[in-house]
Formats: sequence, structure tokens, C-alpha cells
Amino acid sequence: MGSEFLAPLQHRIEQALTTGLSQPTASHYLAEAMRYATLNGGKRLRASLVYMGCEALEIDLELGDSTSLAIELVHAYSLVHDDLPAMDDDELRRGKPTTHIQFDEATAILAGDALQSLAFHQLATDKQLSTDVRIELIAKLSAAIGPDGMVGGQSLDMLAEGAEIKLDALQNIHARKTGALIQFAATAPGIIAGRHQAPLAAFGSALGIAFQIRDDILDATGDDQALGKRSGADARQSKSTYVSLLGIDRAQDALQRMLEQSRQSLDDVDLMTPSFDQLIHFVAHRDY
Ligand code: IPE
Ligand code: IPE
Ligand code: MG
Ligand code: MG
Ligand code: MG
Repeated sequence: MGSEFLAPLQHRIEQALTTGLSQPTASHYLAEAMRYATLNGGKRLRASLVYMGCEALEIDLELGDSTSLAIELVHAYSLVHDDLPAMDDDELRRGKPTTHIQFDEATAILAGDALQSLAFHQLATDKQLSTDVRIELIAKLSAAIGPDGMVGGQSLDMLAEGAEIKLDALQNIHARKTGALIQFAATAPGIIAGRHQAPLAAFGSALGIAFQIRDDILDATGDDQALGKRSGADARQSKSTYVSLLGIDRAQDALQRMLEQSRQSLDDVDLMTPSFDQLIHFVAHRDY
């Protein structure tokens, strides 16, 4: 399934990213690497999720711009580091050589570091948001990607290579390494609008786990060309994934269950919109 329905929101975030990454910086080479790692055709699902939440809560999309930007910068950083030789050791990302291949390893590490700092700077300096909202966004984003969130999950992911782990331990890894940032993207409009945070967080939590289950399935069954990354990498690295633990069919069932849970969280509070509906469908059936 394609992502055409995301196009207007993708366009919006592409512009914000291009502007955000065009400021002059001390090192031209570093800035090039940051742009290379970010302006390269990601799906922008996390940014789109922020905008869809703004639409659902009927607040101006402009109020979501700095959060969308921060999230995509953080996401790009996480991919650059995830691909490093010391981590997943991947050479292809978004259909192009990974940042450490195109530049060098030290530059890739620094570009990731810098993208993360830039993300928080953008959020902290968005004058459209009240100080209280900015602080809450910064607190929640930093928690989502820190030792108890994304980076904690990445550590558990590494430790689970070649190990036999139970399904609840695997779900915990997925909830942290991928789910936490997606959950934050879903919750942020609730923080900005000052309502519906809890149901949006529940929606994002289930959606984020589902997103990584689909990633695991695509790694085992997907097409390199469509994915823009090399499939089969999880098996080569003896990763613990939904596919290695359950097989394709039961992984697909787990994915559906998670998505039903995410749908229910929105239905419960009457926040389901046509865009959210399409997004849930996309996470189930995407092929890239
Ligand atoms: C890939 O994320 C890494 C995971 C957390 C599964 P995406 O599939 O959203 O990657 P891009 O941004 O579209 O390249
Ligand atoms: C990535 O998970 C999670 C983060 C980047 C935080 P994967 O390692 O499965 O992502 P891909 O398959 O390389 O995109
Ligand atoms: Mg990984
Ligand atoms: Mg990887
Ligand atoms: Mg993967």
C-alpha cells in the first residue's frame, strides 16, 4: 500500500526540515552530513502523526511544526546511529548509502549527535508555544528517546541478539526502541491543545509497537528496492524479532491485534478521523 494520503503533510515537514537544516554552521562538512541523513525521502510518518493529531483536535497545524521537526530530526539521528558498524552495520538506507558509508564513521556519529541537539533547540525556541507547553514537550520527548525509551530499547535490542527471549520481553524492546517516539508523536498534539493526552498516548503506544512488528515482517519478506534498505538484516544479525519468535503468520496476527487496540483508543473518545483511519491501514499493509 502506498503513502499518497500522507503527501500534503510530508510536503509540510519537508519544507520545515529544509529550512531548519539550512542555517550556517561551524563545520560545512558536518552540516552536509546532517542534511544527507535527513533530507533523503523518509516516509515522515511521525511528523504526519503530529499533524493528524492537530487536525483531530482542531488546532492550527503551525502549532505542531516545531514538534514535527524535532521528531524527524531525532528519528534521522536514530537511523544514522542504528546503521553504524557497531550497531546494525547497514550500508543502505532510504535507497542510498548510509551516512557512515557516504561520509565516514566519525562524521556519522557527530551528525547524529548534532541532529539531536538541533531538535531540542528548535522546540525550546518556538515562540508560538507557551513556555509551559515547550517544557512539557521537551520533558516528554527527552523521556521518550532516553535511557528508559528509545536508547534503552536499542540497548535491549543489542543484548537480545542471538538470545532466546520471551514475547513480553520482545514487546518491551519494540515499545521502547520504536514505540516511544511514535507514542510521543501521537501525544504531542494533546500536550499542545491541553486535552486528550491519555487516549492519544494509548493510541500511539499500540501504533508504535505495530509499526515495528511490520518492520520486522518487511525485513523478512520485503523487497530491497521498495524498502530502500537491505532485507534479511535481522536474520543475519540474529536479532530477536516478531518473525524470529512467532513466524510470519502469528507476527501478522499480533500486528492486527495491536492495530485494533490503537483504533479502539481513538474510537473510545471519538477522535477517529479519516486520516487516522488511513494511517492505521497503512501501518498494517505498508510495503516500505
Ligand atoms: C525505520 O523507520 C526504523 C524503525 C523505527 C522501524 P521508518 O520506516 O519510519 O523509516 P523512514 O523514516 O520512513 O525512512
Ligand atoms: C530501528 O529498528 C529502531 C531505531 C532506529 C530506534 P531497526 O533496526 O529494525 O530499524 P531498521 O530496520 O534498521 O530501519
Ligand atoms: Mg536496529
Ligand atoms: Mg537497523
Ligand atoms: Mg528493522
